[in-house]
Amino acid sequence: MASEITYAEVKFKNASPAAVAKVPPETKKHQHHKDGHHTQKYPLWLPWLISLLLLLVCIALVIALLVAPFSQSGDQPTALQQKFTKWQCVSAGLQGKGQGWTCCPNGWKRFQKSCYYLSDDMMIWAESQQNCSGMGSYVAVINSKAEQDFLTKEVNQPTRGENYYIGLSAQKVGQWQWLDQTPLDNTVAFWRKDEPSNVTAEKCVVIYRNQKTDNWNDVRCEHHNRICEATAVIV
Ligand SMILES: *[C@@H]1O[C@H](CO)[C@@H](O)[C@H](O)[C@H]1NC(C)=O
Ligand SMILES: *[C@@H]1O[C@H](CO)[C@@H](O)[C@H](O)[C@H]1NC(C)=O
Repeated sequence: MASEITYAEVKFKNASPAAVAKVPPETKKHQHHKDGHHTQKYPLWLPWLISLLLLLVCIALVIALLVAPFSQSGDQPTALQQKFTKWQCVSAGLQGKGQGWTCCPNGWKRFQKSCYYLSDDMMIWAESQQNCSGMGSYVAVINSKAEQDFLTKEVNQPTRGENYYIGLSAQKVGQWQWLDQTPLDNTVAFWRKDEPSNVTAEKCVVIYRNQKTDNWNDVRCEHHNRICEATAVIV
């Protein structure tokens, strides 16, 4: 009993009105405990109810995670999806996990989770940007050596143009940044030897044909080919 009184005192010292209101039930609990094993603190079915509720929450979460991607692609087609009617799909190859397909518009190249359009015609930088976004895409952003190698191989195919815009440009001399404003990471940069020249007039960047991996060059933002990129559509 003595310990219980001490407990109550401590409780009251810091008590806000709300806490005071809580004290009686707590005291009651202690009494129940003291009474021994005959009285249940809670109904027998309570743990089962809690388990059931937790299970339901888990099931709901799993369903939400499974359904979300489909409903998203079903309800809100991506910009790319809205622009094209003909697609080429490859199996995502998830064995036993149902049929996943990775799709790119007809005539676009697929690499990992992206689709790429390499233009036949040439446009100035601003028009190139508009053309890509008009097709639900953006001028290519290169995030890895693997991606750079893939694009290098594509640009070096026969019948390709000379210079292909990528989504890198400079607001100020030497300050290279991608279209989404992220500054260029110099560990994922593939400049040609002695480039960039950082000349004020050369604020755009192209992949230059017939070069090995290091094939970026800063150029004037004049007429060049372009590479557009968009996230592949998964169905
Ligand atoms: C982008 O350029 C291609 C090739 O010239 C053209 O077929 C396409 O219609 C253009 N799209 C837009 C939205 O400008
Ligand atoms: C151009 O600027 C970049 C970034 O400031 C620098 O790393 C590079 O060496 C410069 N190139 C030349 C040729 O000065």
